[in-house]
Amino acid sequence: MQFIDLKSQYKLIKSDVLKSIENVLEHGQYIMGPEVSLLEEKLADYVGAEYCISCSSGTDALLMALMALEVGPGDAVFTTPFTFVATAEVISLVGATPIFVDIDKNTYNISPKLLDDAIQGVVSKISLNPKAIIPVDLFGLPADYVELKKVSEKYNLPIIEDGAQSFGGAIDDQKACSFGDISTTSFFPAKPLGGYGDGGAIFTNDQNLKEKLESIRVHGKGDNKYNNIRIGINGRLDSIQAAILLQKLSIFDEEIQSRQKVAAQYSSQLKDSFVVPNIPEQYSSAWAQYSILADDSEHREASMQKLKDNGIPSAIYYPIPLHLQRAYENLGYSMGDYTICENISERIFSLPMHPYLTEAEINQITLLLNN
Ligand SMILES: Cc1ncc(COP(=O)(O)O)c(C=O)c1O
Repeated sequence: MQFIDLKSQYKLIKSDVLKSIENVLEHGQYIMGPEVSLLEEKLADYVGAEYCISCSSGTDALLMALMALEVGPGDAVFTTPFTFVATAEVISLVGATPIFVDIDKNTYNISPKLLDDAIQGVVSKISLNPKAIIPVDLFGLPADYVELKKVSEKYNLPIIEDGAQSFGGAIDDQKACSFGDISTTSFFPAKPLGGYGDGGAIFTNDQNLKEKLESIRVHGKGDNKYNNIRIGINGRLDSIQAAILLQKLSIFDEEIQSRQKVAAQYSSQLKDSFVVPNIPEQYSSAWAQYSILADDSEHREASMQKLKDNGIPSAIYYPIPLHLQRAYENLGYSMGDYTICENISERIFSLPMHPYLTEAEINQITLLLNN
């Protein structure tokens, strides 16, 4: 059994994918070819944002967002410690300081109440300048943007939505990757909308930010790439990846529906033995991961071992919260600073999740876990 089955999907769209790659090879516009702008139009349309700026990865999308907001040394950026390192890494890369804020114990996303406390703490005690908030839509579930927006308005801090895992999720009818002043996503192959290599996208409704992001994407270009008006990066998405993503986008809604079915079956069969994902009313997850909580680390280890003995992969996202990572030793955090995410990181594990998982496979997994 596969943790994420990309082969079944490829079989389904193989001839269209090959045709669209061949098309790029024929026209030869490998960089910023017509597929890139077509994909940007379709993605902006999909999430309901005014502008989409495609880019080289979900990490670069976040980096470019911080650069566009002119975040730098002396600035504090508030984020969750329960995420992939990329979310905080980019804050450090621009010379700013990540300030971690513990998560909500039910959704695993940043707690708006604790965020407010943390911002007040920085304002009153530390000599840093609060500059932005990066909530993460963990495992595909959008963060609590209703409450987060109140905090963002109270302190006049822009939100950068890290939607690397949530493309395809929503709150009511509003799609993930449209909640931030700038929102970002990733097309890493294992993501809900994954390419066949690295890729990402940035969304905004602000024309000024859009123009800045397009400049940053190509070395800070002005009216041409040899007229450089700011520091930028090489952050473009390849035409071949855009061509592939266009094909994948055409089956994406069906895939998201299949993921919902897989998650629903898992939850109904596992809810008596584990804490299953809590999806608040009106929210829908893109189910980048299906993650459950064991009673404690021994229960988790035994459960994962049972699966492994039967050839079923599982994984831990994330075993070490970011404040306890060696890379962030210099920030001086220690065990006990963020008790909610520390507790969850000892108990959480993720099961195979993809649109092509069969009912019988899910039955096999849940039977093993329940016994
Ligand atoms: C929450 C989160 N943020 C950022 C990233 C970075 O995306 P990428 O791997 O495309 O650089 C990822 C995925 O890997 C992620 O899960």
